[in-house]
Amino acid sequence: MRFTVVTILPELIEPALAAGVVGRAREAGAITVDTVNPRDFTSDRHRSVDDTPYGGGPGMVMKPEPLLAVIAHAARPQPASAELAAGQAQTAAETAALAPHRILMTPAGALLTQARVRELAALPHVVLVCGRYEGVDERVIELAIDEQLSIGDYVLSGGELAALVVIDAVARFVPGVLGEASSVDDESHSAGLLEYPQYTRPLKLAAPDGERAVPEILTSGNHAAIAAWRRRQAIARTGQRRPDLLARFRPAAADRKLLPPPLHARTHLALVHHPVVDRTGAVVTTSLTNFDIHDLARSSLTYGLAGYHIVTPVASQRDKAEHIARLWLEDAGGEHRARALELVRTAASVDAVIAEIAASHGAAPLVVATSARGDAFPGVARRSAPELVAEAGLDPAPLLILLGTGWGLADVLLPSVSRVLAPIDGAADWNHLSVRSAGAIVLDRLFGR
Ligand code: ADE
Repeated sequence: MRFTVVTILPELIEPALAAGVVGRAREAGAITVDTVNPRDFTSDRHRSVDDTPYGGGPGMVMKPEPLLAVIAHAARPQPASAELAAGQAQTAAETAALAPHRILMTPAGALLTQARVRELAALPHVVLVCGRYEGVDERVIELAIDEQLSIGDYVLSGGELAALVVIDAVARFVPGVLGEASSVDDESHSAGLLEYPQYTRPLKLAAPDGERAVPEILTSGNHAAIAAWRRRQAIARTGQRRPDLLARFRPAAADRKLLPPPLHARTHLALVHHPVVDRTGAVVTTSLTNFDIHDLARSSLTYGLAGYHIVTPVASQRDKAEHIARLWLEDAGGEHRARALELVRTAASVDAVIAEIAASHGAAPLVVATSARGDAFPGVARRSAPELVAEAGLDPAPLLILLGTGWGLADVLLPSVSRVLAPIDGAADWNHLSVRSAGAIVLDRLFGR
């Protein structure tokens, strides 16, 4: 595979590619890297490659003429073989297949991914154009660039380091560059996950806080158990560090066996009537709302929850809730609704719900408060919905989501609460969603496909 780097600073490129895997790949002829300099394609005395931007503004812009000329030179068709070099005609398809792929390295490009790296490694010739200054004249991009790539959401002083990153990442996929074919399959990003943790000798490492031992499983000699442990670790650290990647990850059937049951099936919703606050901030007990029983039960079943708990210390209110749920359950024309109402339970307090869930699941739930206020439950860890899913999805414990009636959950619940979900932020300043609506939105953010 061939790389041509278009740069006004060729001295940045060559030394970085002389050693290591890429250096050896060049020596072995698996890849070739050459550089071409736009300054060699200028016609003025100063060999200038930049000019001031039309419309004003800071900095300089790379001029189109030298760049277009140097890219055309870098991308000139290469004969496919010695015979073709000797003068045989190439078909149009052969010429197209050999046409170099011209990439501009720019922070305004699409983010480079391992999937794209793999695809680029299948190309015969990649031309990497390194921008400098404030960027390049847009017409160069229109006329002579096939793709724009960024290596991350930060700005380098030029595209050279980014081009080196592309060469290094792509070369590793070129046949013959890495020794073992499997080494690219196991590493981070190859299957949409981060890599599992690795250990080598010594078995026990002295550390300031004691001794750090290698996880026992790795010395067990049980290869299937080691493979399962590694996969679980890879999934867990992807969830902790890159919830965005985990959200896109589609577990295979074998992965599902390694993971706890789906989070929604371990999640309970509690509609809390006490302790909640009124408009003055006083802690009060609100009364039951018929719609809440029915509508949140339907939302709970739609998102596959394990239970829906109506919490009130007033015994007659609990009786009323059970009576209403039963009426709907027994409604002959509404079997579909009956399934939802079967999820309804009542409890005298949040602690009673926690105890009931702990008893039925064999583990205490992670208790998550919701609030319309950004400053509710001070000191408790805040989570966005994807962060909570990533965290709780890998931990087999059940999840309890608290919804407050009235003006919201009272801070006196603080000792029972482990996480607070970020408030729902609508498009307007007015923020008084009904608890039924808020509950449905929260469930969709957590579990909606
Ligand atoms: N040039 C400057 N910053 C860059 C980045 N983040 N990626 C690619 N090229 C760049």
